[in-house]
Amino acid sequence: MDSISEANTPTSDADASHAASSTGAPVTLVGATVDRTVDVVLERERTAGAMLSRHLNAAGSALPSLHVVETVVAHLRLEESMGGYEAAALARPRVEAVYDAAAELIGAHRDEIALIDSASSGLRVVLDALRLRAGARIIATRATYVSHALHLMTLSREEGVVLDIVPTGADQRTDLAELERMLQSGPPAVVTVAHVPTSSGIVEPVIEIGALVAQYDGFFVLDATQSVGHLAIDVREVGCDVLVTTGRKFLRAPRGTGFVYVRSSAIARLLPTAPDVRAAHWTELSDWDVDGTARRFETWEASIAGRLGLGAALEEVLERGIAPTEAWLTAVGRRVRAALAAVPGVRVAEPVDTPSAIVTFVVDGIASADVVARLAQQNVRVVSVPATHGQWDLGTRGIPAVVRASLHVYNDENDIAALLEHVTVIAGEVAERA
Ligand SMILES: Cc1ncc(COP(=O)(O)O)c(C=O)c1O
Repeated sequence: MDSISEANTPTSDADASHAASSTGAPVTLVGATVDRTVDVVLERERTAGAMLSRHLNAAGSALPSLHVVETVVAHLRLEESMGGYEAAALARPRVEAVYDAAAELIGAHRDEIALIDSASSGLRVVLDALRLRAGARIIATRATYVSHALHLMTLSREEGVVLDIVPTGADQRTDLAELERMLQSGPPAVVTVAHVPTSSGIVEPVIEIGALVAQYDGFFVLDATQSVGHLAIDVREVGCDVLVTTGRKFLRAPRGTGFVYVRSSAIARLLPTAPDVRAAHWTELSDWDVDGTARRFETWEASIAGRLGLGAALEEVLERGIAPTEAWLTAVGRRVRAALAAVPGVRVAEPVDTPSAIVTFVVDGIASADVVARLAQQNVRVVSVPATHGQWDLGTRGIPAVVRASLHVYNDENDIAALLEHVTVIAGEVAERA
């Protein structure tokens, strides 16, 4: 493995790798040749934080680009100069363009998009709108996100909704035969799936799941929080009724942003349980009209600066292209897994060939939180995901916590080498002490 010099001053890397900055040319990545479909040097130049740490936490909250940050700050300055409502009126055409950009990225129509503040809020309002009561059925996948799982279990405990969890196959993905058996064995179900989970890098077979749910008249809610901006998604191809995502992860948008897609034919069925002034018009003493678009799930109050930042981030993904982004990120994820799997004492926690940029692993003999702390001392930023964030997944697999490294387009070979070198050192020290 290459030695890492100046691990705490990553700025020194940029010049060295500038020669290989253009896309298209093959590049050697941890001992294998892959096509360079993303201009990593350019992305690093556009990302202030990439120069300050080895940030491998896109699945937590990715580094925003300079342009995204400038967009947010410029709007806050406008609010400072004229007031929030007046600034919002000026920004309105640019906020409207955010719906177009979100729709374009996932193959939807702008009227099918609602801007929200987090994926969890999106999942909550949509699930509430389904008004599931005793006798209704939810089928959830094992990798369901903690906050969503808690909501599903509350519906089961308090409302008597039947909640079934689909088993996974040897590859840790949803077992399609089991899902079909469950769909066949009862009334039409709401099926909720995390495309890519928080607790591992697996990628669910969402197109196959969508086909099965449609075959059995189910309602398909796709949690694409970790996949939008990371993997190409076409909602028509997937056939989901709802898709929810957040801004701050692979989209690289500001915190407190996100969006929901609601298939046009499903909008009328989904009445918000608590419509906001933004979502409905109070027409008479005791009557009101709910907005006919997905905006029925929006609230009046929102960070306009955040929404503009989300728009800037979406434009950047569209400009870079989601197909080249996916090609690069999945190649990088696979290379990092393969290299970690070769380190004695390290166990990669999902199949090495998984096509995603989220890599989870454990180091034998040391708690994942301690690995994270040791890496942080070297300015390598990863996180530990405990089983309390995914009992149906990590709990079922008997893993108390994993270390999660998640990469984005601004991570270069030196970031990867730093991760590998320091994990090797940690694993070696633990083995020596044993
Ligand atoms: C798969 C998945 N779904 C949903 C969420 C929740 O997103 P938010 O914090 O924006 O509500 C997360 C956050 O980590 C996640 O990883």
